[in-house]
Amino acid sequence: MRFPDDFLWGASTSSFQIEGSLDADGRGRSIWDDFTIETGETGAVACDHYRRWRDDVELVASLGVNAYRFSLAWPRIVPDGRGAVEQRGIDHYSRLLDALLERGIEPVVTLYHWDLPATLDWRDRDTAERFAEYAAVCFDSFGDRVRWWITINEPWVHGILGYADGIHAPGGKDLRGAVHAMHHMLLGHALAYERRPRGETGIAFSLFPTYPESESDADREAARICDGYHNRWFLDPMLKGGYPDDMLRLYEDRVGPLELEPIPAGCDFVGVNYYSRGVIRHDPDGTPFPYHVLHARNELDVELTDGGYEIAPFGLTDLLVRLKRDYGDVPVMITENGAIYYDAPHDPGRVEFLRRHVEAVGEAIAQGVDVRGYCHWSLLDNFEWAMGYKPRFGLVHVDYETQARTVKDSGRAYGEIAARNAL
Ligand code: FCB
Repeated sequence: MRFPDDFLWGASTSSFQIEGSLDADGRGRSIWDDFTIETGETGAVACDHYRRWRDDVELVASLGVNAYRFSLAWPRIVPDGRGAVEQRGIDHYSRLLDALLERGIEPVVTLYHWDLPATLDWRDRDTAERFAEYAAVCFDSFGDRVRWWITINEPWVHGILGYADGIHAPGGKDLRGAVHAMHHMLLGHALAYERRPRGETGIAFSLFPTYPESESDADREAARICDGYHNRWFLDPMLKGGYPDDMLRLYEDRVGPLELEPIPAGCDFVGVNYYSRGVIRHDPDGTPFPYHVLHARNELDVELTDGGYEIAPFGLTDLLVRLKRDYGDVPVMITENGAIYYDAPHDPGRVEFLRRHVEAVGEAIAQGVDVRGYCHWSLLDNFEWAMGYKPRFGLVHVDYETQARTVKDSGRAYGEIAARNAL
């Protein structure tokens, strides 16, 4: 199975999950700096990447991939969230970009991967404006070298886990607040998109294809609502214009009138973060909506990753084909796909997971979907938000005592696929 010429084979990371050095070079505080998680772990050191970035660029190059997706830390560039720009932050990412380009690695740059300056709150409309200003600083500083931009990473996860479920920073516990937060992220994208430089500017969504447990009308309706919650709520405004009516009614039923201002549609590509699919059952007591997502570990008889998620490569093909069917010929990049496996450096589970998902992407391409690249999550084992350092997603193992990096078998297998541009 061959892939298109110029196909990007990347590995993904995000700033807060790997950088550490939270006080270096004038960085401001972010909402994740002080947020307490159950494990008690923090991002203070993480993979110490802020200091080891040169070695990590060599590592990316040594894998043989031709792309690297990473995020800029807003608090390093505009420490107070508004106003003064920190030149040392700009210089840091400038050096990183140059080093990547010197090695022929295409940077795929995320502007925002959840490390919001602590002075800001997505429930406020003002944050969308501040984001667009920050984006403009990044476009001006790096637009000469970056072709692939992602404005915001996963508004659903950041909005719901951070503002409704309280398990991610900033720890909000109110669905109405979360709806406003997600709305302002989409608005922030749109305002930044108006100021986009040349190249391709997209947004990355955590997409979750849903399958009814049975063919009953109730389960099919439940799967449709779950799809609306995770997928259509974001894809419709970005690719068609306007929120889906059915979901707007459901949300207003839960949280009262919303009066969300219209957001101009627009993105040059959609970033797809895909981990697994959902099997959905009607459940009148479901929150926030009347369905239940079956637990792969104990309610389904399916193959699991070490993290307990179903291994469902077909879900990725279905999702990509559906994007084309429902939203037209929008270019797509897989911006995240990966799994928790604990074995290292010999990780046959991840090798298999990776190969099957790359194959699933190839099948979607064969069916006419315009996929521009695949970025595996993650380059390195790293700080997995509320779960701390225990889950390991890396193509490269990190020993957190010594910060030694060891390429896993999956990293080598992936490099070979990238080098051949074929599976
Ligand atoms: C996604 C996040 C990413 C990482 C993976 C496992 O939701 O975007 O930062 O945590 O999950």
